[in-house]
Amino acid sequence: MNKTIFPAKRAGGSVRLPGDKSISHRYGMLAAVAEGTSKLHNFSSGADCHSTLACVEALGAKVRKLENATVEIDGRGLLGLQAPAAALDAGNSGSTIRMLSGILAAQPFTTTIGGDESLSRRPMGRIIDPLTRMGAKISARDGKYPPLEIRGAPLSAIDYPLPMASAQVKSCVLLAGLYADGATVVREPVRTRDHTELALREFGAEVEASRGVVKVHGKPRLQARELLIPGDLSSAAFFLVAALILPGSELTIEGVGLNPTRAALIDFLIASGGKLGILQVQQTAGELIGTLDVRGGRLEGGVIEGSLTAALIDEIPVLAVLGARSEKGLTVRDAGELRVKETDRIATLADNFGRLGVSMEVRPDGFHIPGNQKFRAAEVDSFGDHRIAMAFAVAALAAEGEITIRNAEAASVSFPEFYRTLETIVA
Ligand code: S3P
Repeated sequence: MNKTIFPAKRAGGSVRLPGDKSISHRYGMLAAVAEGTSKLHNFSSGADCHSTLACVEALGAKVRKLENATVEIDGRGLLGLQAPAAALDAGNSGSTIRMLSGILAAQPFTTTIGGDESLSRRPMGRIIDPLTRMGAKISARDGKYPPLEIRGAPLSAIDYPLPMASAQVKSCVLLAGLYADGATVVREPVRTRDHTELALREFGAEVEASRGVVKVHGKPRLQARELLIPGDLSSAAFFLVAALILPGSELTIEGVGLNPTRAALIDFLIASGGKLGILQVQQTAGELIGTLDVRGGRLEGGVIEGSLTAALIDEIPVLAVLGARSEKGLTVRDAGELRVKETDRIATLADNFGRLGVSMEVRPDGFHIPGNQKFRAAEVDSFGDHRIAMAFAVAALAAEGEITIRNAEAASVSFPEFYRTLETIVA
């Protein structure tokens, strides 16, 4: 599908966003191995999280999708999953294949799990290594790509220093650790999102976390829960940037997740000169949730490097758009992980910016975008990547003419209502 987006003067009004993608995956998986029926409110509408639901259903956990984005899951208990009748399909979702593999590694059956063409190119050695050390037998295409054939086995606890900053890999090992005797430890090089740690506690597991060392005690009894999923801050990022780059904007985003391991986005936007207010912060199941108020105006830009890169990894495409419209531009370093996302995001950003007439200096693990640049009318491509589609839809609002996004439907991977919601806030 092609989507044409027209320039806008300002963004305004109030929006509420679908549930956080990262939290929806985790609650969906933990509900499947808990005892009893969990009720999850504001479950993500994104195709990725529905891939997780289809997988747990194929493993025997009954899933009911109710009105208002509520999902009920009848858990099977830690050891009650069944061998699926066919290969599991994780679709486009790295979170589904990497995190669910931690659970599959401990099952007394063999599972094959794969996904679409993009997922089939994403590296899986990072989960094959720790799961093999724990006792599972895993074969993969060329030893490292999906589909994976996971022969489950009784697992042993490990103490695992993560070779890269990855919450998916951390989560995979912690979920496998549920099935091991004793305590499984993951050591992070830099702190990544801690939704798994918080969710495990909510479902009744014993987890200790301090200074980048996370420990989960094996063989807990997990109990079903009724939980509210905060709005997705990574989806909010597109609306925040839209409002910030259109002077005169005044936008409110309600009920959005503000977990400190994700909220570096807010600090970065404020440090770049963005006018942002945080209101009505509350806690739900260990997660912070609140309202964001944002106003358009002058932006300075900035530098993203080191641990900040890991904290902002999903927001970098839309922050690149902000950088090009800021006064000093944006420099991104230490971001080799961008090259192994749904697309090589350094390459797909550079390709689309080139079409808009925006200069971008590409480096092996980052880029620099000078500020004060104009976006000319053009046709760009999502390349099948949801965050590239949405980032350039935001760029289009500040462009000199209309921008057409090819393969715009990719947005539905995390945010099917994105274009409709965008239309309601721009004038
Ligand atoms: C996620 C972790 C990140 C992120 C992805 C979601 C998660 O991936 O990019 O969108 O929910 O744990 P990595 O673990 O590969 O960094």
